[in-house]
Amino acid sequence: MARVALVTGGSRGIGAAISKALKAQGCEVAATYAGNDDAAAKFTSETGIKTYKWNAADYDASKAGIAQVEAELGPIDIVVANAGITRDAPFHKMTPEQWREVIDTNLTGVFNTIHPVWPGMRERKFGRVVVISSINGQKGQFGQVNYAATKAGDLGIVKSLAQEGARFNITANAVCPGYIATEMVMAVPDKVREAIIGQIPAGRLGEPEEIARCVAFLVADDAGFVNGSTISANGAQFFA
Ligand code: CAA
Repeated sequence: MARVALVTGGSRGIGAAISKALKAQGCEVAATYAGNDDAAAKFTSETGIKTYKWNAADYDASKAGIAQVEAELGPIDIVVANAGITRDAPFHKMTPEQWREVIDTNLTGVFNTIHPVWPGMRERKFGRVVVISSINGQKGQFGQVNYAATKAGDLGIVKSLAQEGARFNITANAVCPGYIATEMVMAVPDKVREAIIGQIPAGRLGEPEEIARCVAFLVADDAGFVNGSTISANGAQFFA
């Protein structure tokens, strides 16, 4: 039987590449999105991957959405908590709203995505959890106190879940992408982005597929002893 995989934020950017890679690996994939109906419809028509709309920051919506996915595709074996947003500002200008929005989506959203699936994984004694963190959770970033806090938090989540899940054959790992050629990075002011690329020894941004490759490895059936780890894919920009 095909493994069922849930990828939040799975219809665009890094998430879309992950959804496609897991499908190519033989998984039945459900990709969630928060708002962009057009992008989701285009993604489904191009890939055949089903999309589901809910806000990862909302626990009840996540729980209901996950129940719908499981009713349609079967019990979820693989969860990739990928959905994330930025609200960049230097700390002295950061508003409580910018803080809250990023915490709600990037950190509480990870809880909301994994928590409803976890009991079933324990019962079935199999699960693969991957959280997409960031190089900026490892090193911090000017203008990203909120985002870096959530991405560092992701590492605490997977290291704790790894210990709780191991005896149930559930693994939890993190991938820390560096700067990848997605809309999120393209939204950074040109000058700032060029300066950042200058700090990447590879001399280029990464491609979404280079992150998807890491996820595909971590969720494989025979990756069961890789648990609580962090894979960095950042073109040698930073060593954790
Ligand atoms: N280090 C040191 N100083 C910096 C700096 C940096 N990285 N960036 C800006 N500054 C300085 C500026 O030179 C400026 O100094 P002066 O006042 O002396 O001229 C001061 O800080 C204020 O800068 P701005 O006027 O540009 O401040 P702003 O309010 O307009 O916005 C910012 C600043 C929003 C943080 C902007 O610099 C920015 O967008 N930076 C990019 C942050 C970033 O890397 N985001 C990553 C997005 S992609 C992502 O998150 C994916 C992932 O996981 C990697």
